[in-house]
Amino acid sequence: MIGRLNHIAIAVPDLISAANIYTQILEAKVSAPKKLPLHGVTTVFVELSNTKIELLHPLGKNSPIQSFLEKNPSGGVHHLCFEVKNILGARDHLIANGARVLGDGIPKPGAHDKPVLFLHPKDFIGTLIELEQL
Ligand code: CO
Repeated sequence: MIGRLNHIAIAVPDLISAANIYTQILEAKVSAPKKLPLHGVTTVFVELSNTKIELLHPLGKNSPIQSFLEKNPSGGVHHLCFEVKNILGARDHLIANGARVLGDGIPKPGAHDKPVLFLHPKDFIGTLIELEQL
């Protein structure tokens, strides 16, 4: 069901210094910051030849990554994003197999304006999973 690894997301306490690590030390290509109020985050994407790294920083008071950063103050891997061809079909298949979809289960536009859903980390070996329809 899942396709390519679209990105690995890292929650970061300081977006500018995190982006600088990727541009200046690791010499990668990095996007401009993008605010996603619907998801309570600001994102920067690091473009690699085979995948992307999403740097995530809290946006607004009720950001879903605030508590993650409180537990991991220097930042850390937050989620993996896999591509799917049919997100509603994938969602229904996962629910039928006992997996929990976060929120209301309705796909929302993600960082690339494509529909995304998140899956409960307890159902996926302690890893938050994002599905993105491409
Ligand atoms: Co993501």
